[in-house]
Amino acid sequence: MTLNVGIIIGSTRPGRNGEAVARWVHELASQRKDAAFHLVDIESFNLPVLDEPFPPSLRQPFTKEHSKAWSGAIAPLDALVFVTPEYNHSTSGALKNAIDFLFYEWHDKAAGFVSYGSTGGVRAVEHLRGIVGELHIADVRSQVALSLFDDFENFSTFKPRDVQATALNTMLDELLGWGGALKGYREGKQAKAG
Ligand SMILES: Cc1cc2nc3c(=O)[nH]c(=O)nc-3n(C[C@H](O)[C@H](O)[C@H](O)COP(=O)(O)O)c2cc1C
Repeated sequence: MTLNVGIIIGSTRPGRNGEAVARWVHELASQRKDAAFHLVDIESFNLPVLDEPFPPSLRQPFTKEHSKAWSGAIAPLDALVFVTPEYNHSTSGALKNAIDFLFYEWHDKAAGFVSYGSTGGVRAVEHLRGIVGELHIADVRSQVALSLFDDFENFSTFKPRDVQATALNTMLDELLGWGGALKGYREGKQAKAG
């Protein structure tokens, strides 16, 4: 069973650090043979501020092409790595908005976090844990917290300390364990529903 893991780039800002962080996650993760890892760049979906007339929990068909494309990118994934910056002690508006577009696409999947900021982005992740709980996402405990002071040069060139690769693999071990269990759970649920 190969799990498909999405590495979601949570920043859309020109000159963002998020892309280099996500590419590092993808490169190291792809050395593992226990899953397939895919970069998912919110920026490339050009999502406006949520513009669907109905909450996604109501199961109404999406009315916008960008919503359909975003749904189509997330639905097939088995597990998620959210790469998030810290903006004003939370995650980015872009990531929260992208999360809000969907509902059932997130359900019964595992997630892990890679964050960055002056204190490792830990406050962003604490907020995200509450948000993903509402979406039936099971978030693993271990996380990667990258310091703008110690894992970047001049706050802009990504140079992670060696210890961060170990932290990433610890998080991925947990993620793939739960991701596999939840894949079986989703399949069982679908079979029951017919
Ligand atoms: C609007 C904004 C608010 C920020 N607020 C915080 C903050 O509360 N805590 C923090 O550690 N860093 C904060 N930062 C610094 C960001 O963590 C840092 O710029 C990071 O590189 C942003 O991610 P990005 O480059 O991928 O967009 C803020 C940056 C921006 C643009």
